[in-house]
Amino acid sequence: MWTLNKTSYKEQDILVNESLFTLGNGYLGVRGCFEEQSLPSIRGTYINGFYDTTPLSYSEKLYGFPDDSERQVNVIEAQTVEIYLDGEKVSLTKDKVLDFEQTLDMKQGISIRKYTYLTAHQKKAILCFKRLVSFKFEYLFLMDVDIEYDGFIEMKSFLEGDLYTYADETDPRVGSHKEQVLNIEDIGFDKSHQWIKAKTLKSDLTIKTVSTYETAVPVISRIENSSVVSMMSGTNKLQMTKYTAYLSSLKEYSDSDIKVVEVYSFEEHMSFQKSYLDLFWEASDIEILGDKELQRGIRFNLFQLLQSVGKDGKTNIGAKGLTGEGYEGHTFWDTEIYILPCLLMSQPELSKKLLMYRYDQLEEGRERARVLGHKRGSKFPWRTITGKECSSYFPAGTAQYHINGDVSYSIIQYYLMTDDLEFMITYGFEVLIETSLLWLELGHFYNGSFRIDAVTGPDEYSCVVNNNYYTNLIAKYNMHWTYMMKDLLEVHNPEAFNQLMEKLEVTEVDFNNFRKADEQMYLPYDETLNINLQDDHFLEKKLWDFENTPKEKYPLLLHFHPLTIYRHQVLKQADTVLAHLLLEEYTEESVRRDSFHYYEKLTTHDSSLSSCIYGMMASKLGEHKHAEEYFNETIFLDLKNTHKNTKDGLHMANLGGSILAILKGFAGFRITKEGIRLSPWIPDKWESVKFKIRIKSSWIEVRIAKDIQMTLIQGDSVSVTIYNDSYELEDSLRIRRQYD
Ligand code: BGC
Repeated sequence: MWTLNKTSYKEQDILVNESLFTLGNGYLGVRGCFEEQSLPSIRGTYINGFYDTTPLSYSEKLYGFPDDSERQVNVIEAQTVEIYLDGEKVSLTKDKVLDFEQTLDMKQGISIRKYTYLTAHQKKAILCFKRLVSFKFEYLFLMDVDIEYDGFIEMKSFLEGDLYTYADETDPRVGSHKEQVLNIEDIGFDKSHQWIKAKTLKSDLTIKTVSTYETAVPVISRIENSSVVSMMSGTNKLQMTKYTAYLSSLKEYSDSDIKVVEVYSFEEHMSFQKSYLDLFWEASDIEILGDKELQRGIRFNLFQLLQSVGKDGKTNIGAKGLTGEGYEGHTFWDTEIYILPCLLMSQPELSKKLLMYRYDQLEEGRERARVLGHKRGSKFPWRTITGKECSSYFPAGTAQYHINGDVSYSIIQYYLMTDDLEFMITYGFEVLIETSLLWLELGHFYNGSFRIDAVTGPDEYSCVVNNNYYTNLIAKYNMHWTYMMKDLLEVHNPEAFNQLMEKLEVTEVDFNNFRKADEQMYLPYDETLNINLQDDHFLEKKLWDFENTPKEKYPLLLHFHPLTIYRHQVLKQADTVLAHLLLEEYTEESVRRDSFHYYEKLTTHDSSLSSCIYGMMASKLGEHKHAEEYFNETIFLDLKNTHKNTKDGLHMANLGGSILAILKGFAGFRITKEGIRLSPWIPDKWESVKFKIRIKSSWIEVRIAKDIQMTLIQGDSVSVTIYNDSYELEDSLRIRRQYD
């Protein structure tokens, strides 16, 4: 179950399949478009962090609204070829294509597409396309085309510079203006290379794209408008490998990087790819026995996260990764709450890189906080590429202050999993302090409690509310850890600690205030229903009329004015339930259970960030059938296009959520300062599930079947609580599973 396969294609599925078959490496992403381009296509090639700015237009622009937004750029296109068989252009219409097969191989890191083509004269040709986006040489995209045909074969291969961003005016989840984003500065070719050098219109980033071909036949290039076209031909067989290097000004590339392109063959690149992925799967695979489709689904989800996540500490992962233009390439809280926690289980170094990205944006966040009226602290942007706030609709954007808590939460989780005090003193603590200072600025003490007004919680169907439970709880946790960390770091590295205090101008008084706000944080609760309130007035609102809302009116955000939605008790996504899941120690189980049932019936799951959370909570509450249903929805959300917008890119947070559903839902993994804890169960159909956890310097393998087996495969012994019993894992242990 290491491959995704398609043996046919329907025109209406093509755009979705382009997203599913994307190849990438965290720097470069190439949508899996058909090279022949004869059907609808969103041709996209993206570089993580490569963006342009576009002005935001408001007819009533109020103080502090951002002037510009950033937008991921669709860079030079290198995947298109035209093929002619005895002069007939190959076009992918149904009756001409036989034995179609398209495979994404997640163990090899390549995609392959093959078919037999029937010409107008009923002659057959066999065409095979292979692709690879290198993990070893991140700027490199390889494409191999092999054609066998009893006749004359011609091929035109393109390097195209006339590109636009994708737009859809009817959907706020994609950009609304189709724009040309690159200015070509240089276009040319010589004996062995073709190139286009282009610059973004405003952000001054450059991209030099250089191609070279390996083939037994001569290659003749010419310039046609904004593309370099390379032509080659042969009789009976034509094979070529195209190596394309994407050298962006985000990195310091030199000419020798282009040389690499010529040194290794496609096969050698395949073996590099395999070695890289062997290591990845060795650490991060989740092996499910008993359900092949789920096994394929979970590997697909892991693989796609790996392909999109930035690995250099400067870039992050957009809501759609490098697979499409939905949400314009912006990074949201999705990273910290849905993606980073699953990487943290087996790839802590990668998680650290994502945290570094946030650290680097603290200064920009300080400036933004001042604009928002806060004298101290830093405010992370709701959506961004480089750190600038890019949200133009503040009620469901800037008002989501919880992002500050989400970043802090994941820093704390990182610390608990790694014990990395060096990271904390150099980077993490500064974020905790700046975010805590902001909570003090944002909230206020009133009648003996600390309250936070006019914010939006995770649920975007209730905006600008007072005392959103999620926000208040994550702020409390954030401030709690800030003063706890102080005690630790003051002793661990007094010099660095004092320097940081001076730099940030924080004193004992500030830490006392963090403590006071933590202790007095107001957490809304309704005694009659025994639930935490999503916000102060949530229960006073009218209930949404679900009975009379037909299926085609979902997602509500596309069919109702926001105010209509805001006036009702209706949720787009998990909010209080998510708070309970992340920070269960703050509530009684009965409150979590009653809240789950109360909010569940009001939740539309219009956001793809929702089902996985409800599923995990169902797991925790022992509602296993329920959890399984949510899991099945989550895992196949993109593979089955259930949200109907996978064409705009894969839903990265949900991919992460499906992985967490196993690790944190079924296995019940949790880490707190008391140590790690598991409370496993698995669906009836499964024989077993196996995965590894990296905790501090140790590696543990966990296998859940009828028994729970834990093996320490490397490092020091680990204390672990399973259900309610504590063990010291020194070698291996096996205990009986409690739930059937
Ligand atoms: C969700 C947000 C999420 C964003 C990007 C929105 O639909 O409501 O919570 O961050 O999508 O995935």
